[in-house]
Amino acid sequence: MENMHLLAKRLAAIKPSATAMLFGRAIALRAQGVDLISFAVGEPDFDTPRHIQAAAKAAIDSGAFRYTAVSGIRELRDAISYDSKKRRGGIEHAADEIVVSVGAKHALFNLALTLLDPDDEVIIPTPSYVSYPEQVRLCGAVPLFIECSEDQGFLLSPEALKGAISEKTKALVLCSPSNPTGATYSARQLGAIAEVARAYNFWIIVDEIYSRLIYDGFEHRSLLEVAPDLRDRIAVVDGVSKTYAMTGWRIGWVLAPRAVARACEALQSQSTTNPTTVSQHAAVAALLGPQEPTEHMRKTFESRRNRLVEGINGIGGLSCLMPTGAFYIFVNVSGLLGKSAAGVRLSDDAAVSEWLLQKAKVAVVPGSAFGAAGYIRLSYAVSLELIDKGLKRIADAVKELS
Ligand SMILES: Cc1ncc(COP(=O)(O)O)c(C=O)c1O
Repeated sequence: MENMHLLAKRLAAIKPSATAMLFGRAIALRAQGVDLISFAVGEPDFDTPRHIQAAAKAAIDSGAFRYTAVSGIRELRDAISYDSKKRRGGIEHAADEIVVSVGAKHALFNLALTLLDPDDEVIIPTPSYVSYPEQVRLCGAVPLFIECSEDQGFLLSPEALKGAISEKTKALVLCSPSNPTGATYSARQLGAIAEVARAYNFWIIVDEIYSRLIYDGFEHRSLLEVAPDLRDRIAVVDGVSKTYAMTGWRIGWVLAPRAVARACEALQSQSTTNPTTVSQHAAVAALLGPQEPTEHMRKTFESRRNRLVEGINGIGGLSCLMPTGAFYIFVNVSGLLGKSAAGVRLSDDAAVSEWLLQKAKVAVVPGSAFGAAGYIRLSYAVSLELIDKGLKRIADAVKELS
């Protein structure tokens, strides 16, 4: 591209979101008439529940057209405070310790810019959500990856954490339940991590965007409630996108110690100002309104997860763990590597993903996008009918490999 040299140097440090790029590719293929089944999606396939839509319409009718307070309307911050206290063991955040942003990704970005100086290190357990390392790099800081293997359930061990801490450590990012693995930390595991963290002084960014999408009766526990003594060092990120099928409304938030929240607010006042006013009113209805639609979605995800995990584990060369949360499975494809079909050799997870796209017309995300080569991520935010159809396509394609 012409004039590339005129772009800011910081752009050279980051790559675009692999999942967002794949989303674009799937749209383009469908536009060409390809009958594609996409397991690459990171959003619920449900509509936003009716009562939330109605609240947005009512907000428009009542004239909610103007700027609001930068950190969000008081009603929404009070609703977040109420909801969080209920779900996080009674640990309370006042309205001025909450900043509502344009989605959880924006809340994470505000935190990165607020907390990180150049050369600071941020510990990121992998496999990890694609945006954590790139946001860290945009701040000139350094992501320090800790590989969390499948044997450990893709979860960070206290020993590995201890081994990664240095005088440069500025923050640790924990995502539970995790995108891309669906792995969820128990209270005991969080307690062990807190025990290590106590001896040092770094921020802990806890991404709980999937905390209501939990299965098999597993109880989601927040680091906040497990280690309330660390409250002054913990920033919790959450939002309505996944739980309430509201990805396009763009509402997420951070609950953080007052000084951090105020810094995020100052930063946001110079970028987006408030998140969209109508969406804020919709988010109030989501948090305070009936929760049955959410429970219905959760149960539906659970049955899809069971079907997808069983189907994948029934295909030779593929295997995956049963995840406890979110709506992803993380599939080990090492059994396919080195195999070929019609002159195509599957050398790595990117090759497997490309081959599935071309051959089976099935879109998945390569694990290397999440810092975990040898895996692919499949989302089950897809109907049972499409799951069955997609599984058959994958199984048929795999049969042709030798
Ligand atoms: C772990 C994780 N955090 C944050 C986000 C961003 O959510 P939002 O749509 O609210 O920006 C996502 C979305 O995929 C995610 O998977």
